[in-house]
Amino acid sequence: MDRVYVVDTTLRDGEQSPEIFFTPEEKVRFAQQLARLGVDVIDAGYPALGRDDLHAVAMVAREVKGPVIMALARPREEEIRAALEALENAERARIHLYIPVSRIQLRHMLNITPEEAMERAMKALDQLSGQGVEVEFTLEDAFRADRGFLLEMAKAVAAKGVRFINLSDTVGGALPSQISRVVSWLKGELGEKGPLLSIHCHDDLGMATANSVAALEAGARQFHATIGGVGTRAGNAALEEVVMALKLWEEELGLVTEVETKEFYRTVRILTALTGVMIQPHKAIIGKAAFVHKVESHLMAVVKEKSTFEIVRPEDVGYPRSPMILSKYSGRMSFEDKLRELGYSLDEERLDMAYQRFRELVEKKREIYDEDVVAIVEDVLSRRPGAFILQDFSISSGMGQEPTARVVLLQEGEVKEAASRGTGPIDAAFKAIDQITGFTGRLLNYSIRALTEGKDALGEVVLRVRLKGEEVVGRGVATDIVEASIKAYLDAVNKVLSEES
Ligand code: KIV
Ligand code: ZN
Repeated sequence: MDRVYVVDTTLRDGEQSPEIFFTPEEKVRFAQQLARLGVDVIDAGYPALGRDDLHAVAMVAREVKGPVIMALARPREEEIRAALEALENAERARIHLYIPVSRIQLRHMLNITPEEAMERAMKALDQLSGQGVEVEFTLEDAFRADRGFLLEMAKAVAAKGVRFINLSDTVGGALPSQISRVVSWLKGELGEKGPLLSIHCHDDLGMATANSVAALEAGARQFHATIGGVGTRAGNAALEEVVMALKLWEEELGLVTEVETKEFYRTVRILTALTGVMIQPHKAIIGKAAFVHKVESHLMAVVKEKSTFEIVRPEDVGYPRSPMILSKYSGRMSFEDKLRELGYSLDEERLDMAYQRFRELVEKKREIYDEDVVAIVEDVLSRRPGAFILQDFSISSGMGQEPTARVVLLQEGEVKEAASRGTGPIDAAFKAIDQITGFTGRLLNYSIRALTEGKDALGEVVLRVRLKGEEVVGRGVATDIVEASIKAYLDAVNKVLSEES
């Protein structure tokens, strides 16, 4: 069996998608889960984008042990310096350089010739030589490049000692057969002792998973992907899909990863809880409907023999077959068991807080599902010192009536209260919060969904707001949708506050 290395780029390419943002703390939380999932490399971000990005990658590098932590840089002196600074405290570090190799991108994006691109790449590698840091080099838009230049660049990069060459289908337009031909040809040209070939596929034609698998079949031994396939434009290859395809066809392909597939369910839930990103129900492996059988004949067959309609067993990707549901009869022990099952380990103070929230919830809701528990815990984990906490609110609204809201917040023991009118109850509540905090937020995006079934379900609000010149995502959950909205708005305010401190 040949080992395939897995690079997760949810924190970098995933974050390039419009609806995904991570605070530095959230990056660390997600990266810790990726370490538990067993990925080999975490593409943590692009430090040259600004001090915040550098700080976020540095936090991941300092706090996450196990996987290699990778930071992106264009072949420019200042970007390489930023990446090196961010990776300073990593247990294992890798710099990820990239440059386009297709004429169309060289001409229209960088306005340089292939010769100039080569010069930049060589200069960057010279800057890195002797720094003792591992380098991965991405040949961007590789599948639209002239073969001659692709080979020239790959050979030159390899001659500088680079051990990982990543071929990117940046525009997601290649076919599996084309990917396969290029990878096996290049591998042959670079020779057995050549660098390890890697693949990075985008999903613009819905073929990113198929293309990644094709590359691995053809000789690549590393792939880049994101959880749920989130990422730039139509997204990236979905990590769980590629891994499960390799697993299902392990004997035939002779390829293995070290991913702990039972962690997929938990990883997706954490991603959803941190970013509010919605996974479509029919998404392979992780969608809500992926293991649901509705057709009677299928159901009967599955009862007799699961493999009739299940090529992947839900338990192998961490879906509990019959989820244990909590209720008002569940005590602290069952709650703690559930937390353990969901992979949380909280300190005593947070555990008390979470259990208290759980007791409050069972007063309002008969059955408590995993999603509810995750929502409670994520809420508790996102509490920050100095944060505003919702203490009370009341709303008045009705047909032909001007909506008003009164909001009471607590900040470090101090009670703060304000009232406001608005175009709707939520607008009125947000304006009251603005009066208390002194910030004026501009709402850019707002979405609401029920986390579970039933009229008593928790409502989850995810919103994007511009506060103090920054775009932040806030998330709030409650059985009352106005309360969930207020909590989401406060979450965004508190993120801005914690970044300031
Ligand atoms: O899509 C792309 O080409 C990239 C590279 C930076 C790997 O994201
Ligand atoms: Zn990409």
